[in-house]
Amino acid sequence: MTTTLLRGRLLSFHRAPLSLADSQSYLYEEDGGLLVEDGLITATGPYADVKAKAAADTAEIDHRPHLIMPGFIDMHLHFPQMQVIASYAANLLEWLNTYTFPEECRFVESAHAERIARHFYDELIRHGTTTAVAYCSVHKTSADAFFAEAMRRNMRMVGGKVMMDRNAPQGLLDTPEMGYDETRQVISDWHGKGRNHVAITPRFAITSTPAQMEATSALAREFPDLHIQTHLSENHDEIRFTCELYPDAIDYTDIYARYGLLGPKSLFGHAIHLSEREAGVMSEAGAVAVHCPTSNLFLGSGLFPLKALARREKPVRIGVATDIGGGSSYSMLRTMDEAYKIQQLLGERLNPLESYYLMTRGNAEALSLADRIGTLEPGTEADLVVLDATATSAMALKMEVVKTLPEELFLLQTMGDDRAVAETYVAGVALKAQL
Ligand code: GUN
Ligand code: ZN
Repeated sequence: MTTTLLRGRLLSFHRAPLSLADSQSYLYEEDGGLLVEDGLITATGPYADVKAKAAADTAEIDHRPHLIMPGFIDMHLHFPQMQVIASYAANLLEWLNTYTFPEECRFVESAHAERIARHFYDELIRHGTTTAVAYCSVHKTSADAFFAEAMRRNMRMVGGKVMMDRNAPQGLLDTPEMGYDETRQVISDWHGKGRNHVAITPRFAITSTPAQMEATSALAREFPDLHIQTHLSENHDEIRFTCELYPDAIDYTDIYARYGLLGPKSLFGHAIHLSEREAGVMSEAGAVAVHCPTSNLFLGSGLFPLKALARREKPVRIGVATDIGGGSSYSMLRTMDEAYKIQQLLGERLNPLESYYLMTRGNAEALSLADRIGTLEPGTEADLVVLDATATSAMALKMEVVKTLPEELFLLQTMGDDRAVAETYVAGVALKAQL
């Protein structure tokens, strides 16, 4: 058994903070200890108390004065788009057709998929992200590379082979039967292996025929515990085209609802331009809207009404994500900085406690995985990020006048990136140091 005692300033959320003053919503331990045994957190609390529980010869790592938090969770990104990031396009559909689809065709080659998978996990670890929910390409080879590398690093990952059978280049199309059979094969090869979760992944309604949506519906019925991920209501031209393709549906959300794809394990990327009716049915179903701020700004898609959706009488569950490669940063800190600015433009406030809740426990709850990840609670998995608010000279200078924890968190979010990630632990193992 490997046992480690980590020392530092601990921060972990119990629930969503109601305001900046809501100190009941989180645990903050100024001189904290975290006991990690065989990849699990077994004790959390004041350093002296936790040390008293540890065997005398327990190895100790002192991260003071840094913050130790649950590792960041990225709820939506595309593993085959690492070389699409920073592509110059006017809007979503141009970006997809000009850059994204041609690039994803390359993932039919195992060697390419395996190489990019290694880079993918390196970047996640560098940025303090310990769980991510990813789209692979349409090719089973890409899902195999994605899950094999996750297992090698012992990371809790969610991913899926994309299903798409129209409106894309030939090299990126499956058929309803292939999409169904290969998804089943990916599930039997990878789901529950190591810490892997397979998600049923129809790309979006534009690239799936009604026949493929039927096949997706069958998968959702056969595997009700699996996550389902797709895109919804990202861009006005996309919405118009989608509704033309499914003229019988009331609106975009209704297309997915008709195929039984609207439920508490359903993760909808973007969901920016929802009507009141769509927000209502999302809420009733317990479906999750995944906000991707850097992508929404980069592609000019729109301003996601995060606060308005969260404070509805029937609130919509919300996740946050980078959306690499429509998104422009791997960093969840950079992501929440942009989320903050979007709410500013909408005349809303997103306070730093809410941001850090969303990146950790909030995303874990949105994945229905908060019993395993997203907090520092004993019994959960020791996926951690260690943050240094003095990582750059400009940050260190500002830290001279920072007095409170929320101020420090806000500084980290506003100025921080991978340089502020001093270490990333996956199941108790320090992986950033090994990069
Ligand atoms: N909608 C369908 N596919 C994609 C994608 O790869 N990225 C984004 N941002 N939106 C999409
Ligand atoms: Zn996406």
